[in-house]
Amino acid sequence: MSKLVAARPQIGIGGCRVPDRAKQLVMEVLNSNRLSAGPMIDQFERQMAELHARRFGLFTNSGTSALQIALAALKERHGWHDGDEVLVPALTFVATSNVVLYNGLRPVFVDVEPDRYCIDPAQIERHITPKTKAIMPVHIAGLPCEMDPVLEIAARHDLRVVEDSAESMFVRYRGRPVGSMSDIGCFSTYVAHIITTGVGGFCVTDDDELIVMLKSLMNHGRDSIYTRIDDDAGREGQALFEIADRRFSFVRLGYSYRCTEMEAALGLAQLETREADWRRRQTIARRLCEGLAPLADHLQLPAERDGAEHAWMFFPLVLRTGAVERAAVIQYLEDHQIETRYLLPLLNQPVYRQLFGDLEPMYPVAANLNRRAFYIGCHAGMTDEEVDHILDCFHTLFRNHA
Ligand SMILES: Cc1ncc(COP(=O)(O)O)c(C=O)c1O
Repeated sequence: MSKLVAARPQIGIGGCRVPDRAKQLVMEVLNSNRLSAGPMIDQFERQMAELHARRFGLFTNSGTSALQIALAALKERHGWHDGDEVLVPALTFVATSNVVLYNGLRPVFVDVEPDRYCIDPAQIERHITPKTKAIMPVHIAGLPCEMDPVLEIAARHDLRVVEDSAESMFVRYRGRPVGSMSDIGCFSTYVAHIITTGVGGFCVTDDDELIVMLKSLMNHGRDSIYTRIDDDAGREGQALFEIADRRFSFVRLGYSYRCTEMEAALGLAQLETREADWRRRQTIARRLCEGLAPLADHLQLPAERDGAEHAWMFFPLVLRTGAVERAAVIQYLEDHQIETRYLLPLLNQPVYRQLFGDLEPMYPVAANLNRRAFYIGCHAGMTDEEVDHILDCFHTLFRNHA
């Protein structure tokens, strides 16, 4: 690698520049001496619920914890047994199916669409057994799944649905926001996601009973009478005693999955700029699509979906058969300061091979993507010059291999 090439800062999968507004809100938190769930978290939860057309939002310390307690709440409410099955896409971030295992349930994989990488509705029904209890569609890279057939199948087989929307926020599928089309929708606010609070995640739901269970589950399994330190505010007499009496009562096996006011402050600042940030992601995605279109013989570019918006968390690409080997492409891009990730390979992960053996032959689309797919960044912090650099690199790479 030449020194000249190395001099450029890396073009990351995500970019983090904490805006002044976020610093101001974090300072408000610090000056208030209130770090545990308070007004910032309340407001963040209210706004996230509203933006996703839900009655309730719950801020947790990760997308994974949000997904884990979503399944735990449904398992408890519906009386699922250990070993019951949950359908998950054969290509997704490992957390989607890990949370099924954390809950003593069995992930059953469903192959994905070859061009959009989300769960393939046409493949779902052949995996349904008497033990199947739920489906977890994942809105990959910001693109909503084809939800209508997923929901129709779920309704016909009486399955619950948990949307893993860790990679998508705010966008709509046939008029409905991601996260709003299921029993519980879950998001992540981890680094490089649509909004970033360092660590963080969300459950959103419309269900009065589920939100109480979720609050309890993220809070050591506490009695619902007291899951936040303000729950006794303004109470007196018998009502106050009742809280005091049950404040330290734990009614289920729960977890410690709380966030602080500081993460919420970071999130609130980004809600203010979310539309401008999304427009910037769209512009970058459009420039990448247009600029890479002449290389369509080598590269499968991301496809959008009729009736759906795209949040563009990242920019997925698949090398066509006979094109350059993926290793050579990744090496070239990384050498030229373009960060890459493989496109969410799951079934070939060492830990999944240990747990399930070699499943790839049953999932030809995911298996192919595990070998040929990768992604690069597509975020609001990228400059036009960086997009030009990415395009130049791809054109040079394929010209040299033509
Ligand atoms: C599809 C999907 N699900 C779940 C997660 C987990 O979120 P977190 O890293 O906040 O735990 C991620 C994170 O990258 C993800 O992409």
